[in-house]
Amino acid sequence: MSDRKPVTLHRLRELHASGEKIAVLTCYDASFAQVLDRAGVDVLLVGDSLGMVLQGHASTVPVSIEDMVYHTAAVARGNRSAWIIADMPFGSYQESAESALRHAVRLIQAGAQMVKLEGGGWTTPTVRFLVERGIPVCAHLGFTPQTVYALGGYRVQGRDESAAHRLQAQAAELAEAGAAMLVLEMVPATLARELTASIPIPVIGIGAGVGCSGQVLVLHDVLGVTRNAPRFARNYLQDAAGVEDAVRRYVGDVKAGRFPDDALHSF
Ligand code: KIV
Repeated sequence: MSDRKPVTLHRLRELHASGEKIAVLTCYDASFAQVLDRAGVDVLLVGDSLGMVLQGHASTVPVSIEDMVYHTAAVARGNRSAWIIADMPFGSYQESAESALRHAVRLIQAGAQMVKLEGGGWTTPTVRFLVERGIPVCAHLGFTPQTVYALGGYRVQGRDESAAHRLQAQAAELAEAGAAMLVLEMVPATLARELTASIPIPVIGIGAGVGCSGQVLVLHDVLGVTRNAPRFARNYLQDAAGVEDAVRRYVGDVKAGRFPDDALHSF
């Protein structure tokens, strides 16, 4: 059983201010929530990646708000002290800020402490609307899996100068609108490092290099379950004594800046 103090938004801000890296993993059920919490993961992300790793879909697009509420509640029951973020699934925040609020409330009532939504520019007023109503928000820029069709596949984002400037501007707007955290997925490591230094909130990278404020991976990639894991992931189970040991090694490597390795896991 974990005896650490609950990770709060205040604590996450302290970690960021002190330069300690924030270790995040996806989590979808109560048993793994217990293990990850015990192993010292700061943040459990109930990611809509569950559509792929649990449900067998080809993308996150089919995941429903009911799916997210169900898995968020399960994670919350197993967790004692980690901060819990739940993904707002595709279609739950695009229509209006009011419907985004209704869906965010369901996730918070299920046990999430923060919601995450994808995209920049058009999402900024929605982020402000949620934050003003007391809902902590994590933004998500770079490769945004829910818009995989519009983006033309699983591609690195922000490679050319204008795309890089757009990402930086969107990140600054989201932080100004009150987003308390940003996930940055599949962008060049140099851009991620610059962007992280340019905004006042923690940036959690995935395929974005070691220069971010923290890292997130999909649990099934860390445990070697995924058949074709992305190049930016690492299987921690293969050298570990068990699942909890694998997760502890991941946390240790993130905190020490040993993961990701820019040559192996970054763009
Ligand atoms: O759904 C998810 O797992 C995510 C991570 C890839 C950041 O959003």
